[in-house]
Amino acid sequence: MNYQNILFEIKNNIALITINRPDKLNALNGKTIDELDEAVKSIKNNPDIFVVIITGSGEKAFVAGADISELNKLDVISAKEFSEKGNRVFRAIETLDRPVIAAVNGFALGGGCELALACHIRFASENAKFGQPEVNLGIIPGYGGTQRLGRIINSSRALEMILTGDMVSAEEAYKIGLANKVYPQSELLNKSYEFAEKILSKGQQAIRFALKAVKATDNMSLAEGLNYEASLFALVCGTDDFKEGTAAFLEKRKPDFKHR
Ligand code: COA
Repeated sequence: MNYQNILFEIKNNIALITINRPDKLNALNGKTIDELDEAVKSIKNNPDIFVVIITGSGEKAFVAGADISELNKLDVISAKEFSEKGNRVFRAIETLDRPVIAAVNGFALGGGCELALACHIRFASENAKFGQPEVNLGIIPGYGGTQRLGRIINSSRALEMILTGDMVSAEEAYKIGLANKVYPQSELLNKSYEFAEKILSKGQQAIRFALKAVKATDNMSLAEGLNYEASLFALVCGTDDFKEGTAAFLEKRKPDFKHR
């Protein structure tokens, strides 16, 4: 696909998606959501991609939210469609069986914060600011913020952000568990690639099963989750990576995992 609002590149089994509307602080308009949808589908169908990084273009914003010039035109019916579509695309990111890293390089507001929440890992630049400012516009988060934020940080801290619309600095985001790490802006992407490469050095079947098992906590009871974990554990013990990883340890050498 010929993308206009995102950049999509694949290098050494790592996909990089850059939301690319810097003059609008990478605000997510309908076209950008459609392109993100396409990119995520193509990653899902590409077995050679093992890790995904999502970032924003420029040094000011990751994504400053849904495009308010489009929001402003919504009515009740189109608003429901708008929210459902965004939720579907973000859910596809969240349920991808490859790790997705948000490299939050500036403002992550509204839909931008929600995009970061749908990713599995969030690294932030020192100038990053997270927020759910929807109440300032007379609306509520519509791309999953009311559901995911309280699951990632605690629910009263999430409510504080959602009810006030106040932004949270990168340092504060790190303290409350919203950002995994904070880096100088100039190092953010390199550090994200370093992390991705560390994942590439592991058994990729194990990485996928680990993601599936941890993400199952979203919709399973503890008892169901433990059963699911046992099934995935059994399956992963049927892989060549399992044989290689355990043999390498016993033979005191580095494992040579095959990328499949
Ligand atoms: N939707 C549409 N356009 C947006 C946008 C959004 N969410 N966020 C920023 N922009 C546009 C601005 O309208 C401006 O466009 P213009 O140059 O054509 O006028 C451009 O991006 C730069 O933004 P600007 O507001 O001038 O930058 P700033 O540094 O003064 O302020 C923010 C930065 C992030 C504080 C401010 O842009 C902002 O509050 N944005 C909206 C955030 C928001 O409410 N998001 C949730 C939406 S649900």
